Amino acid sequence: MSNRPRPLVAGNWKMNGLSNALHELAAIASGVSGFEGAVDALICPPATLIATACNALRGTPLMIGAQDCSQHVEGAFTGDISAAMLADGGARWVILGHSERRHGWGETDTDVCRKVGRSLEFHLSPVVCIGETEEQMLQGKTETVLRQQLQTSIPDRIAAAQITVAYEPVWAIGTGRIPVLSRIADLHGFIRQVLREKFGASGGAIRILYGGSVKPDNVGDIARIGDVDGTLVGGASLKAGDFLAISTSFASR
Ligand code: PGA
Repeated sequence: MSNRPRPLVAGNWKMNGLSNALHELAAIASGVSGFEGAVDALICPPATLIATACNALRGTPLMIGAQDCSQHVEGAFTGDISAAMLADGGARWVILGHSERRHGWGETDTDVCRKVGRSLEFHLSPVVCIGETEEQMLQGKTETVLRQQLQTSIPDRIAAAQITVAYEPVWAIGTGRIPVLSRIADLHGFIRQVLREKFGASGGAIRILYGGSVKPDNVGDIARIGDVDGTLVGGASLKAGDFLAISTSFASR
């Protein structure tokens, strides 16, 4: 196991969490202190909580990230939040190209690619999400879709070490359904191969997270799959107990 990258357990709170959720973040931070060195833990709360969370959690190992950023540096983009603003608030990470952005807001691979470039410019570590829809899966197009997303959502001229990839089948997000374990293993192997084609040997060190309906009761088997270097968790990241149980599975694999 020693040559595998340290796993990353990342929570995507989506549009959930008011200021009273800071208690939950504090509970997560205190729990993950026990895993320091074995697991990297990240929560991406709504943007409104980032600065307060970063101040409250200073000195703890829990890292804070954002769920999206603008592809532009600054200017007349009402409602958008720039990478510089997120970094200024204390965020160190940003989720980009989540399926809810791609499918709900029509974000293209080109948009995601620009956002990845912008996030790196402002020293945020991007978690680039890819994944096929149910229709694409049923049509046998999964590998084609994943290859296309990897090739065009991630800039070519960056250091592989700067990015993390999250494979999230769209049909598995929030549905309680996950692919069979052998399929997760095959697809993570496929993603690894495409990353090596794109980045050479350094593509072998990029962390590939699995996401989509990960819960304490199914994560044990997923955590043991080769090339699963962590997880991106939605619903189950909102409760400290569930997030910590998931982290335990990765710490003890
Ligand atoms: P879920 O969401 O864990 O609730 O399925 C995962 C995600 O959207 O990142």
